[in-house]
Amino acid sequence: MKQTYYITTPIYYVNDNPHIGHAYTTILADVLARFKRSSGHDVYFLTGLDEHGQKVQQAAEQRGVDPQQHCDEMAPRFLELWQKLHIQYDDFIRTSEPRHVSVVQDVLQTVFDNGDIYEDEYEGLYSVSEERFITEKEAESGEFRDIKKLKEKNYFFRMSNYQQKLIDHINANPEFVQPNHRKNEVLGFLKQPLEDLCISRPKSRLNWGIELPFDTDYVTYVWFDALINYITSPGYASNNAGFKKWWPADVHLIGKDILTTHSVYWPTMLMSAGIALPKSIFAHGWWLSGETKMSKSLGNIVDPLSLIEEYGVDPVRYYLMREMVLGQDAAFTMESFIKRYNSDLANDYGNLLSRVTKLIQKFFDGKLPPADDESDEGKHVKESAVSAIQKVNGCIDSMKMNEGIEESLQFIRAVNKYMEKMAPWKLAKENPKVAGGVLRTAAEALRIGSLLLKPVMPNRTEIVLDTFGSISDEVKWGGLTDDFALKDHEILFPRIDAKKTTVNDAKEKKDNPEGVILYEDFEKVELQTAKVLEAEKVEGADRLLKLQIEVGEEKRQIVSGIAEYYSPEDLIGKMVIVVANLKPATIFGIESHGMLLAASNKKELSIVTVAGDGIISGSKVY
Ligand code: ME8
Ligand code: MG
Repeated sequence: MKQTYYITTPIYYVNDNPHIGHAYTTILADVLARFKRSSGHDVYFLTGLDEHGQKVQQAAEQRGVDPQQHCDEMAPRFLELWQKLHIQYDDFIRTSEPRHVSVVQDVLQTVFDNGDIYEDEYEGLYSVSEERFITEKEAESGEFRDIKKLKEKNYFFRMSNYQQKLIDHINANPEFVQPNHRKNEVLGFLKQPLEDLCISRPKSRLNWGIELPFDTDYVTYVWFDALINYITSPGYASNNAGFKKWWPADVHLIGKDILTTHSVYWPTMLMSAGIALPKSIFAHGWWLSGETKMSKSLGNIVDPLSLIEEYGVDPVRYYLMREMVLGQDAAFTMESFIKRYNSDLANDYGNLLSRVTKLIQKFFDGKLPPADDESDEGKHVKESAVSAIQKVNGCIDSMKMNEGIEESLQFIRAVNKYMEKMAPWKLAKENPKVAGGVLRTAAEALRIGSLLLKPVMPNRTEIVLDTFGSISDEVKWGGLTDDFALKDHEILFPRIDAKKTTVNDAKEKKDNPEGVILYEDFEKVELQTAKVLEAEKVEGADRLLKLQIEVGEEKRQIVSGIAEYYSPEDLIGKMVIVVANLKPATIFGIESHGMLLAASNKKELSIVTVAGDGIISGSKVY
C-alpha cells in the first residue's frame, strides 16, 4: 500500500481577489504535492475558500450584493488563478457548502455535549475589522480600526481546559509546529494563561455564518467554522473510510499571520471533540513589498495574473519557490525576478538545452548517440546527478525548497561547465564517438535536471522531456530510451529585457495608477439625482439601510451600506445621486435597484448631494 500524504493550504477569504501571497502558499503546496506524488505517495491536496464572517459580509455589502452571491462570484476568480498556475488540487472546499455546514454543527454539538461550551455575558471593546473583542491595551496600540464598546451574551469555548495538554503535545512532538522559531513563539504565548474563546456572534450583528446547533439566535465565529474545513473535506465521521485514510493531515501550510489560530485554537478544538491532531503545521514568512507585508488592506500587492501573462506560469512558480527561504520573509521586486529569470532560467537551464539539442541535431542528425561518455569527466557528471537527486529529496523533506532548487541548478551549471570543457563541437569531426558520448551524457543530465525541477515548473520541463522523446519519469540515471527522437522545441526562456517589462513593482504601481478610461466609458454610467422618500434599517446587517427613492417619475428601492453614518430620519427628503443604470441586485433578500454615491475615507462617510434648490429628482448628472 502506498504511503498517504495529506497537505492543506489556508482557505482564503473572499473579500478580495487573490494576490501573490495566496498564490505563493498554493504553489508551495502544489510543489510539495507533486514531489510526494512522484516519490510514490498517495496524495490528497486540499485548498479552498473561507466564505463566512464579517469581512466577507462587509465586502458583499460594499459591493451591494448578497453574501452568497458575492462568494459565488469570487470563487471563480480563485479557481481561474489556480488553473492558470497549474495547481493540481484534489478538493476545493467552500465553507458555505452544505457538507461543511453540517460538519461544523456536528463538531459544535459534540464540544457542547462534552461541557466545553458555556454561555456568558461580556462587555468590552470590539474591533470590527478584527472581528473580536480586544483588550484596552490593544485598543490603545492604535493597530485596530473600527473599535466600539459592546455588551453581549455569547458562547465561549473552554480553550483554557486544554492549555497544559497542548503544551505537553508540542513538547512531545517537536515537528508539530514548524519551523522551530514558530514553535517557540507558540510555547511563549502559552506561558500566559489561555483565555476561553468566544465562538458565537449574535445574528443581530452578523448573520452570514453557520447557525449554532444549540442556539439559533447565533452564528459561529468564523475561525471555529473555517478551521474545520480540514476535516470536512476528507469526509469527517469516525466510520468514514476517506476520513480514516487521510486524517490526520501531514501538514497544514500557513502564513505566519495565522499561526495562533492554527496551533492553539485548532488543536484544542480537536482535543475537545476527541479528534486526532494534525501531524504538523508549517508557517512560512511574508512576501514584502519594500519593508511591509503585501496585503489587500495595504493595497501594495502584485497581481499574479499580469506576471503570468508577461512571463509565463513556470517562471513565476520558480521565482516564488527559489527566492523565499521557508520560514523567513522575502522581498518581492521585479528587479530580482528578472535577475533570477535571466541567470537561472535563460542562461543556465535554457542555454544548456539549446546547446545540447543543436549539437545533436547538427552532428548526429537528431539521433541519440549510442553510449555515455566513459571519461572521468563523464563519470563525474553521472555522480553529480546521483548526489543531486539525493540532496534535492533531502531538501524537500526538510522543507528547504530554495536549497533544493539551488541544488538542481548547481547540477545544471556543472553540466554547462562539462560541455565547455569537453567542447563536443570541436571533437565532432575528429572523434565523433567521444563527442557523441559527451552529448548523450549531457542529454541524460538535462533529463535528470528537468525531472528534479518538474514539480516546480511542470510545463516547461515537460517541453524538455518531450524534446528527448517519450522517456521514463523515474528520477534515475539511464532513462534515455532508444526510441529517442529529438523534436524541435521553442526557446524555453527567452531573455527578459529589463527595460521592456510592463509589470511594475506594486509600489510603483500605486504612484502610477493605470485605470484611465475614455469618455465613452464614462458615458455608460447614468448618474441621476433622486429624492429619498423613506428609509429604514435592515434587520441583521448593521451597515445597511433600505431606501425608497424617487427618480423623476419613477419610484425605486435601493439598499445602501451607510447605516453607520446616517440614521434613517437624517436621509428623508435629501436629494442624492444614484447610479441609475446599475443592474438590480438582491442584498439580504432585498431588491436594490441602483446605487447611491457617497464620499468616504474609511473613518468618515458623507453622501453626495447637489448644491442649490432648483434641481429636481431625475436630473442627469455629468
Ligand atoms: O487568513 N506573503 O485568509 P487570507 C505570504 N481565511 N503569504 C501571504 C501573504 C503575504 N504577503 N498574504 C497572504 C485567512 N498570504 C483565513 C484563513 S484557514 C482555516 C483560514 C497567504 O485570505 C498566507 O498563506 O487572509 C496567509 O496565511 C494566507 O494567505 C491568509 O489568507
Ligand atoms: Mg489575512
